[in-house]
Amino acid sequence: MQSSQQDFEKAQEQLKLLKNDPGNETKLKLYALFKQATEGPCNAPKPGMLDFVKKAKWDAWNSLGNLSQDNARQKYTELVSSLVSAESADQKEAPPEEGRHDGYETLLVTTKNNITKIMFNRPDKKNAINHKMYREIIKALEEAGKNDSTIAVITGNGDYYSSGNDLNNFTNIQPGDMEKMAKDGAVLLREFVDHFIDFPKPLFAVVNGPAIGICVTVLGLCDVVYASDRATFHTPFSQLGQSPEGCSSYLFPKIMGLAKANEMLLFNKKLTAAEACAQGLVTEVFPERTFQKEVWARLEAYAALPKNCLAMSKQLLRSMDKEKLHEVNSRECELLQERWLSDECVNAIVSFFQKKAKL
Ligand code: COA
Repeated sequence: MQSSQQDFEKAQEQLKLLKNDPGNETKLKLYALFKQATEGPCNAPKPGMLDFVKKAKWDAWNSLGNLSQDNARQKYTELVSSLVSAESADQKEAPPEEGRHDGYETLLVTTKNNITKIMFNRPDKKNAINHKMYREIIKALEEAGKNDSTIAVITGNGDYYSSGNDLNNFTNIQPGDMEKMAKDGAVLLREFVDHFIDFPKPLFAVVNGPAIGICVTVLGLCDVVYASDRATFHTPFSQLGQSPEGCSSYLFPKIMGLAKANEMLLFNKKLTAAEACAQGLVTEVFPERTFQKEVWARLEAYAALPKNCLAMSKQLLRSMDKEKLHEVNSRECELLQERWLSDECVNAIVSFFQKKAKL
């Protein structure tokens, strides 16, 4: 059945009401179908290679070839309708979680049984950390540091622990704003890592799946790291024209020795959970099948220990290195600020999005 102009307009209104970001791929499809429906086949000049957002949009529209305007309108209406249905199904399925903290969009934060759990919650983006999520993690760490819980736990929702820095943090930036982007990014990163350095009670990482970039480097600042045997640990900095952060340039050589740290931090070597455990980055690895059950039983037992004693002992251990860690954090952020402006970095990000646009 062909959709009418009225259905098409209604779909445009419904799209504005969606709460969840449908993802870049879907947004590109919607853009292309909308343009095809309203203007016909792609008639815009091809944008330059470095203008990768406009280029991806142009590619999407152009890929529709001679699809008729009626068909484009219908496909657009159907796509919006599937997004609306998926969102209402999600809302029905999500049970209200006990002890849930309000005010988070990218995290699920709960406090129960003396444990504050900070869960990365962008599973459809592999829990990539966008600017909002950086700020929310900072806020969640502040809350968890002050509340009554004995320990705090960071983990991920879905199949990934986290794919690290959201590379969209580098897109949609006008050429004249590049320096500001790099400066603001460095300030935010420094504050983020400072919160890990200063966190006043035991902080656990429960690494439920692959981990990339910043979420791997800050593991050195967590007190205990449990991993599923499905997890991997990857810091592809040089591949992206970037440099190490999260105090890894200091802590990784200390934890695993310089030779092993160099393979990870300079040469992008991805570690399995067993390797990361053998090298001291991970405390213990559990089979995926029993991971959640075994880990949470253990965490609940630990969280029943005397709270003040644990906090004070953790602070004592951290105090030996605290000043040094802040200095390292500051130097790492300075270098990254420079790196983010380099051709090597810009080209690597362009190529990530170009590969995606071609899929
Ligand atoms: N930044 C931005 N978007 C990311 C992302 C990241 N770090 N990690 C995943 N995503 C997005 C993908 O773009 C995709 O979005 P879409 O649905 O709108 O297209 C979605 O998450 C799912 O990822 P996809 O690439 O389709 O899944 P995959 O299983 O094929 O690959 C990864 C997963 C993590 C290997 C791949 O997304 C990747 O290489 N991401 C970049 C990781 C990275 O370099 N991080 C920075 C480290 S310093």
